[in-house]
Amino acid sequence: MISVFGSLVGDEEIANAISCMKSQWMGFGSNVPKFEDFFSKKFNVPHFAMVDSGSNALFMAVSLLDLPRGSEVIVPSLTWVSCAQAVIIAGHKPVFCDVDPLTMNVRCEDIEPLLNSKVKAIMVVHYAGLAVDLDPIFELGLPVIEDAAHAVCSTYKGKPCGAIADVGIYSFDAVKNLTTGEGGGIASIHAEWIERAKRMRYCGIGKSGFEAAAASAKGKVRWWEYNITEPFIKMLPTNIAAGIGLAQLERLDALQAIRENIWRHYQFEFTNISWIITPVEAPEGDRHSYFTYCIRVPKRDELAHFLLENEVYTTLRYHPLHMNPLYRQMDVRLPHCEALNEDALSIPMHPRLSMEEVDKIIDLIKKFGKVNSL
Ligand SMILES: Cc1ncc(COP(=O)(O)O)c(C=O)c1O
Repeated sequence: MISVFGSLVGDEEIANAISCMKSQWMGFGSNVPKFEDFFSKKFNVPHFAMVDSGSNALFMAVSLLDLPRGSEVIVPSLTWVSCAQAVIIAGHKPVFCDVDPLTMNVRCEDIEPLLNSKVKAIMVVHYAGLAVDLDPIFELGLPVIEDAAHAVCSTYKGKPCGAIADVGIYSFDAVKNLTTGEGGGIASIHAEWIERAKRMRYCGIGKSGFEAAAASAKGKVRWWEYNITEPFIKMLPTNIAAGIGLAQLERLDALQAIRENIWRHYQFEFTNISWIITPVEAPEGDRHSYFTYCIRVPKRDELAHFLLENEVYTTLRYHPLHMNPLYRQMDVRLPHCEALNEDALSIPMHPRLSMEEVDKIIDLIKKFGKVNSL
């Protein structure tokens, strides 16, 4: 079976993970600040902290805004469930908004009709790695949370996605462009927010066990005592995850080149096929991360089943949140998300795909079109 998403790790990732175990230092350790430093320099993200998942980073991002309890936060419906869960767990209410049917990204015009005095923040998702047009959204004057789970490596007007707004998050889970197994990151334009995030991720304690041990007993009578600055849950990343991430950062440009090559091949083959709507390219000055390749087609379910019968797994990212039974009582109609729910399909895109597999997928899709006279 050809998988739809995937990552690629090699000997360096394995060596770094083993070295943590050999040194008996598997929890939070020295690889974490090294990973943070490397990430900051590579992507020009000056204020950045690693945490244990993108989902938890979202909860931390909403918490960092210190919104009045019960505030409304605009969230695109076409996103991963953690976006809404983070808002709810932080004590607020997600208000779902529609997206542009072509870019699958939220636009100012989707947000504006929902604004009222209860709306205190806006969450945006750089869907598939294509940057959201942020400037008009910033002009609305509310704090913005950037979900850059798909958008490590993406840029907007030359700036790194995830680090342009008040706060942004990354995911390093098993299928992301940069994987640490499970892992996430948080960035902000405010240096002090990331200093706070580094305390929050360790239950609100200023120093991790590692840092306390490193500082050791020097000049302190009771070095085992610590200050708890605020209540927060534990989100510490492991030394193993950060070690894997360090090796991934080294090979990321090569991984991105593979993704881009596959993307270009799909675009070349599908652009002139009238029944397939291909994904939008990044505008001049922006950079795409090529996280997923999502097409829009008639007979989408039939195509997905036909591909599955031929050992090609596809999926839809995402089942719109406002259509999920948990949120259906909110009773909103979002026509573009609902249309995408009927005809959008993510086809395989990841660095372990061979060009023979990519050609097989393209041939199968073309064959489906012929058999169905599309
Ligand atoms: C848009 C989006 N946001 C957040 C997340 C959560 O990231 P994680 O899997 O690291 O918790 C994901 C994960 O797929 C995602 O796709």
